[in-house]
Amino acid sequence: MSEDNNIIIAKDLSKKYNEHLVVDNLNLAIKKGEIFGLLGPNGAGKSTFILMAMGLTEPSSGSINVAGFNSTRQPLEVKRITGYLPEKVGFYEDMSAKGNLTYTAELNNIPYREIPKKVDEVLEIVTLTKNKNQLVKTLSKGMKQRLGIADVLIKDPRLVFFDEPTEGLDLKVANQILQTILDLNKQKNITFLLSSHQLNLMQKVCPRVGILSRGKLIGEGTVENLGRNLFGGGKYRIELELEKVTDGLIEKLKKLDKVVNINKVDNQLQVICDKDIRQDISRLIAAEDILMTRMDMKQDALEEIYLKYFKEE
Ligand SMILES: Nc1ncnc2c1ncn2[C@@H]1O[C@H](COP(=O)(O)OP(=O)(O)OP(=O)(O)O)[C@@H](O)[C@H]1O
Ligand SMILES: [Mg+2]
Repeated sequence: MSEDNNIIIAKDLSKKYNEHLVVDNLNLAIKKGEIFGLLGPNGAGKSTFILMAMGLTEPSSGSINVAGFNSTRQPLEVKRITGYLPEKVGFYEDMSAKGNLTYTAELNNIPYREIPKKVDEVLEIVTLTKNKNQLVKTLSKGMKQRLGIADVLIKDPRLVFFDEPTEGLDLKVANQILQTILDLNKQKNITFLLSSHQLNLMQKVCPRVGILSRGKLIGEGTVENLGRNLFGGGKYRIELELEKVTDGLIEKLKKLDKVVNINKVDNQLQVICDKDIRQDISRLIAAEDILMTRMDMKQDALEEIYLKYFKEE
């Protein structure tokens, strides 16, 4: 794993709390310029991973590097170039939005003369210009989340860790936050690591995800490839329930365009394929004079992952 293209490299990374492994031998590389989704149910170890990456807690074994710095030994260097939005962003509630950002700018040693311009600029990015004089305690949850983004942007980070960016937000506000992340990634080339248990939302912005379950990385890659693996090698899985299944029918289905595989369970068939071929299937079955009682197509890979790995948690 070269450091030229990777901004985060975890090697055999583990963390124990009271002899309980909460991050279990994790190997993961995140590329510069990526939006990576670390997905997993409650307690999977997502926040612990981020804390180790930020140098805020020490690994029990293994290592984690951010932009070439060892997070455990060089936490200040990591913090200088990295923005961190924890699960609960803390602000001075009795101070205005602008006041809080000004304070952050001061803490980050931004020259006094440049602070007002910088604060206005980041407020504009998260569309809070109109609310800049409002006390934080009067802002909505979504606005506070946006203020959190403005707060990390003050120091022009190369990388942002965003722990649960859409937790507790309604869908419209969640989508606005995700759109802002996409824009910042495109326009400022900021790398994002987002942690979440909201698979469907993350799927929209993370081309590549890692699935964490009980501290272990159980899958990693593009959403499409993860889906393919779960779907037995194809992009779609079309499920059929038939009055009867004959060998002749299976042979004919196999010959349809873009069919990868066919699985049979009693009178049900799963057609694994790379194209929506429901019409072709219907025609073929009708021509065979077989009654079909159900046909469903599954293509939401993350939904499938959710059912497989998250449901029993
Ligand atoms: N400081 C701590 N001391 C002891 N155990 C901890 C500590 N922090 C986390 N844990 C435990 O480690 C495990 C992983 O927690 P972590 O917060 O990393 O999970 P998470 O994936 O972020 O979950 P969530 O989705 O709920 O935020 C949990 O079992 C948690 O109880
Ligand atoms: Mg967490």
